[in-house]
Amino acid sequence: MSDIAILEVNGIKYEFPVIVGAENEVSIDIKTLRSVTGGVTTLDPGFKNTSSCESAITFLDGEKGILRYRGYSIEELADKSDFLEVIYLLIFGELPTKEEKSKFHKDIQSKSLVDEDVKKILDGFPKTAHPMGVLSALTSALTAFNPKSVDVKSEQDMYNAICKILGKFPVLVAWAYRKEEGLPLAYGDNSLGYVENFIKMMFELPNEKFVMNPVVLDALDKLLILHADHEQNCSTSTVRVVGSSHAGLFASISAGISALWGPLHGGANQAVIEMLEDIKADGGDYQKYIEKAKDKNDPFRLMGFGHRVYKNFDPRANIIKVAAEEVLNDLGIDDPVLDIARGLAQVALSDEYFKSRNLYPNVDFYSGIIYRALGIPVPMFTAMFALGRLPGWIAQWKEMRSRNEPISRPRQIYIGETLRPFVEESKR
Ligand code: CMC
Repeated sequence: MSDIAILEVNGIKYEFPVIVGAENEVSIDIKTLRSVTGGVTTLDPGFKNTSSCESAITFLDGEKGILRYRGYSIEELADKSDFLEVIYLLIFGELPTKEEKSKFHKDIQSKSLVDEDVKKILDGFPKTAHPMGVLSALTSALTAFNPKSVDVKSEQDMYNAICKILGKFPVLVAWAYRKEEGLPLAYGDNSLGYVENFIKMMFELPNEKFVMNPVVLDALDKLLILHADHEQNCSTSTVRVVGSSHAGLFASISAGISALWGPLHGGANQAVIEMLEDIKADGGDYQKYIEKAKDKNDPFRLMGFGHRVYKNFDPRANIIKVAAEEVLNDLGIDDPVLDIARGLAQVALSDEYFKSRNLYPNVDFYSGIIYRALGIPVPMFTAMFALGRLPGWIAQWKEMRSRNEPISRPRQIYIGETLRPFVEESKR
């Protein structure tokens, strides 16, 4: 392959270097485009054809359905690793030794207490507030309780900030849940593992001894691993964009939470269950919903279907589908919504509309079924996704800041009015 790409604009030819990634992804490096052409830009709404950065964290091949963190396949990590190890891997680049993992865990625990005054902020929210709004606000509030900005040139400072957010975030997720449920706020138990502690903080009741269910622990650990990073998706790009202005880690993560909330992104897991419930309430007629999804005059989309990058299958969905079946079996739950999900997927996968557009079930199609089985209420689903995605956001923020990347500031093609004289109020 040539290492030069030639672009001709107004009869003049310009040469640009062709970059090849570690997995042979090809990209045209247009960093000098505006300067050499005198202002020409590229137009790419939704960044469908744009690589916004070079990154060494996650590799994804949408055509082949491959997802790897730092070179390790998602299938192997989900099977053999645990969430804390994956957090370490994503952020620091290697799987930790036993000692490194133990130190990391202790450092996170030592920073996990949330200032009591944060409760006053939580108090101000109505019980009906969506947990994602609460979570984004509380994460942003951490900036006020930790006003010293992170010195990104200091490894120790970076490390401390990372441990702080990893320690406090699960507490905030649990608090957002307990607020909604009207339960007293819980604190962690430093004798437990990272995910175990989170589960206890979520589900412990004030009048009962808490007993950990290993099936719940295993399923949640796996789900968190599967959500941990997904290269330059909407929320991660948001974290990088916000962080590129040198806004702090907590502020950048808070922005990522807001981006994740949308139903086209992480909010899809909530939307999927709501859709499956609607289909069930409507008599379980999948075909009607398939037709609605295909109708260009109907805004309805089959939630949990399609992906910007995966055009064959979403490897996370395959793992989650099996895990969902296992969890329901292990917990002895018969959820009719899983039957509807199976039936809907079967019909959609054999329908020409979905086949021709490469629309397959994505990670969110089955994850809600597991969350439901674990007793997590629907509005909390996206907050669970946020907990899983946190290490990815941190790793990407750290990578971006460590490389001192320039501030994100795209251009536009202006299509509004050209210069016109001001119109006096009396003449409008
Ligand atoms: N149902 C019906 N039609 C769809 C769907 C769907 N779920 N998704 C895409 N299409 C159609 C779309 O109408 C378009 O058709 P046409 O070419 O005739 O105009 C074609 O497929 C391409 O869609 P697109 O909107 O251009 O694709 P995109 O890459 O911009 O969007 C997506 C990707 C994930 C936003 C979209 O597939 C979608 O809205 N899916 C439902 C929401 C969802 O499940 N989101 C979770 C994504 S995975 C987890 C995450 O990343 O957070």
